[in-house]
Amino acid sequence: MLTYYTATTLDGFIADPDDSLDWLLRQPNEASGPFGFDDFMSGVGAVVMGSTTYEWVLAHEDGKWPYTLPSWVMTSRELPSATGADVRFASGDVRTVHAEMTAAAGGRGLWVVGGGDLAGQFAEAGLLDEVVVSVAPVTLGAGRPLLPRRLDLELVESAVNGAFVCARYRVAGPLLEDRS
Ligand SMILES: NC(=O)c1ccc[n+]([C@@H]2O[C@H](COP(=O)([O-])OP(=O)(O)OC[C@H]3O[C@@H](n4cnc5c(N)ncnc54)[C@H](OP(=O)(O)O)[C@@H]3O)[C@@H](O)[C@H]2O)c1
Repeated sequence: MLTYYTATTLDGFIADPDDSLDWLLRQPNEASGPFGFDDFMSGVGAVVMGSTTYEWVLAHEDGKWPYTLPSWVMTSRELPSATGADVRFASGDVRTVHAEMTAAAGGRGLWVVGGGDLAGQFAEAGLLDEVVVSVAPVTLGAGRPLLPRRLDLELVESAVNGAFVCARYRVAGPLLEDRS
């Protein structure tokens, strides 16, 4: 099960144009509440992210890596490895990465941390099972897109956590109007 679990603005951005998350980090939220991070992470066995997200994490965690899980970073560049981290750099077809993550996750779930285009690459390959979003009461007008693809989703459950409206969607596939 591959889940894109993320927070977003109401107008569909996961970071501002300068990759700032200040608008997000000031919002009240309970990590142990509905759709909270703790419960989600307890079911995850491997994570994947793009290089912008990786570099953001390194810059904001004093170079320390916050995850003990096997982690894949998609990049076409040579990037520094985080200290003491199980990070594997990969590029190209996400199907290869999905197979490697599944083998490493020990039957647990897979998390695509971001960004939106990377989640979209998995969706195009038919490998994105769920989108779980926490919607912050903010609009930005521009920034890093949540999921720049045309997809049909099915609402599975929803809740409120602090300032956020949270929802779990099953990925149904390409937008109905695009299917031939
Ligand atoms: N709101 C939230 O909860 C949340 C969650 C996650 C992330 N974020 C933030 O959102 C922003 C996301 O940034 P982003 O939209 O640029 O996305 P990203 O996925 O973090 O990074 C995109 C980059 O990853 C590399 N990449 C992606 N797919 C690849 C592939 N198949 N093969 C090789 N390289 C590949 C490419 O860079 P190179 O090849 O040049 O390395 C690409 O430009 C960041 O600021 C992050 O901190 C927010």
